Amino acid sequence: MTVKLAVLASGRGSNFKSIQEAINNGALDARVDLLITDKEQAAAREIARANGIEEVYIPYDKNDRVSFEKEAERLIKEKGCDLVILAGFMRLITPHLIDAFAGRMLNIHPSLLPSFKGLHAQRQALEYGVKFAGCTVHFVTQEMDAGPIIQQRCVPVLPDDDEESLCARILIEEHALYPEAIRMVTEELSLDV
Ligand code: GRF
Repeated sequence: MTVKLAVLASGRGSNFKSIQEAINNGALDARVDLLITDKEQAAAREIARANGIEEVYIPYDKNDRVSFEKEAERLIKEKGCDLVILAGFMRLITPHLIDAFAGRMLNIHPSLLPSFKGLHAQRQALEYGVKFAGCTVHFVTQEMDAGPIIQQRCVPVLPDDDEESLCARILIEEHALYPEAIRMVTEELSLDV
């Protein structure tokens, strides 16, 4: 089953790119049907265009999160996407969108959850002094960064690491992890049908 994905991203879109590369090289049987961004300047939009993927920018008002979410929901449902992939989407998701895609919305977070939720997870890990860090793909639920874990990858924290070097080491693993986790969820989805 070729799973249909909607991706939500706010920034550079390197995770989105790695998912698209896994699709292009046959490692992931999926298709990105839609990219939604909340930032007009998001580099992720370029990646979508380069791959012939429809991309939509929806202005975001943090005093009225639901308006963005209603429009995103409408577009995603119109496309008939099976999964919603948060790939560096830097907004809180309200119960409106979470309920609309319950069990079908995934996020990637740059820590070994449940440690270091929220912003600057890699900095939090360094400041705490952990010896291993990593990344997690999980289902999105109402509590931020707390949904059921799908897969994780681990990296060492080296003595001379700074935030930049640790972010880079984790990002390499993120790029391998997200396509793999999507494939795992997809296989389970196809067992359901
Ligand atoms: C990644 O570190 C991801 O784990 C976090 O936001 C960052 C997005 O990076 N949620 P990119 O836009 O995919 O390059």
